Amino acid sequence: MDPLNLTSSYNVCDMFCWLFASVLVALVVSAGGIQQRESQGDDDPHPKHPGERKPVPALYGQRYSEQTFIGTHNSAAVRTAENGWSISGNQYFNVSVQLRSGVRLLQAQGHSDPEGSSEIRLCHFNCALMDAGSLVDHLLTVKHFLETHPHEVVTLLFVNTVREGLLPWMKAYYDTGLDLLSYIPPPDKRGGAMHLDDWPTIAEMVAVNKRVVTFLSSGANEDLAPYLLNEWSYVYETDFGIEAPDQYDCLPDRPRWPGSYIPPRLSLVNHFLYAQFLGFRYPNATYANTTNAAGSHVGELGEHAMRCRSAYERRPNFFLVDFFNEGDVFDVEYGMNAF
Ligand SMILES: *[C@@H]1O[C@H](CO)[C@@H](O)[C@H](O)[C@H]1NC(C)=O
Ligand SMILES: *[C@@H]1O[C@H](CO)[C@@H](O)[C@H](O)[C@H]1NC(C)=O
Ligand SMILES: *[C@@H]1O[C@H](CO)[C@@H](O)[C@H](O)[C@H]1NC(C)=O
Repeated sequence: MDPLNLTSSYNVCDMFCWLFASVLVALVVSAGGIQQRESQGDDDPHPKHPGERKPVPALYGQRYSEQTFIGTHNSAAVRTAENGWSISGNQYFNVSVQLRSGVRLLQAQGHSDPEGSSEIRLCHFNCALMDAGSLVDHLLTVKHFLETHPHEVVTLLFVNTVREGLLPWMKAYYDTGLDLLSYIPPPDKRGGAMHLDDWPTIAEMVAVNKRVVTFLSSGANEDLAPYLLNEWSYVYETDFGIEAPDQYDCLPDRPRWPGSYIPPRLSLVNHFLYAQFLGFRYPNATYANTTNAAGSHVGELGEHAMRCRSAYERRPNFFLVDFFNEGDVFDVEYGMNAF
C-alpha cells in the first residue's frame, strides 16, 4: 500500500520552536537567574550513570529487523556543565559513551556549515544554538566503536538540511571509510519494496563486515549513494511531538497509511517528552527518569513499548529517547528482546 502522506523533513515547528524557546529561556535565565546559577549550582542536574545493554545471544542469528534497539534523539547535542547544561542538548553523555553503554541508533541533524566550509555540521535547527561538531568526527567515533566491537551493528539516522546535495555526505563517508562498512539493500528492494524478512541477520552483517545502516530523512538518492537510504522507504515513525505523558502513540505517523494499517517495515517509536515555555518546545529533562522508566505506568517507556509490541504483533525496532542514561531504557530493550 502506498503512503497517503509522506513528509520528507522533520516538523518545521519543532525546529523553529527550538530557536525561540532557547532564546527566550536564555533571556529569562540571564535576567533572573545569574546569581542563582553562580551560587551552589543546586539547580544543576545530576545525571544518572548510564546503564548497560544486555544483549540476547539468540538474536545474533536473527534478522536486524527482528530486534529492538535503543536510539538517542539528537545524539550529538550534549548538555554539560561547560555549556551551562544548554537546553539545546538532548543527552547528558556523548556519542562514544552512548555506544559503549549500548545505544545502537544515533539520530542527528546534518546542516551546511554556517562558516561556509564544505563540511557538514551536526546542529539542532540552528548551528548558532549548539554546534555539536562535524559529521566527520561523529562518523569517526562510530567507526572507532565498530572497530573495537567487531560483532556490533549501528544504525545512523540523519535529518538532512544540507543545501549542497549528497556530495558532502558522500565525502564524509568516503573520508572516514564508513561507506565500506555500510549495508546496501538489494537494488530491487528500494522504494518501499524491502520487507522485514528481506533484512539480513546480525551474524550475516558481521560476516561481510557491513555493520552500519544509514537513513536520511530527505535528499537520499540510492542510485548515486546506495548506502544512504531513504528513511521513508524502509522505516515508519510514530508521532514525535509529545507534550504530555499520555500522548505516546504507536501508529505510523510518517509515512501515514489508512486506518490502523501497520506496514511490514522497520518501526521507529519516538518516546521523548517536550516541555513548553510560552508555547515553545524544549526537552523535558526533569521528567526523564519517568519518561524512560521500564514500568507499566502511563508515560513510561515500558508501557509504550508493550503497547506498540502488541499493536505491531512483533518487536518494535527502535525506541528513540532523550537523556538515555535516565530511567532504565536497556531494561526495556532486554524485555522486548528476551521474550
Ligand atoms: C566522551 O565522554 C567521555 C566521558 O565523559 C570522555 O572521557 C571522552 O573524552 C568524551 N569523548 C569525546 C570525543 O569528547
Ligand atoms: C515535565 O513533564 C511533567 C509531566 O507532564 C510536568 O509535570 C512538568 O511540568 C514538565 N516540566 C516542564 C518544565 O514543563
Ligand atoms: C526522578 O527525579 C526526581 C527529581 O530529581 C526525583 O525526585 C525522583 O525521585 C526521581 N525518580 C526516580 C524513580 O528516580
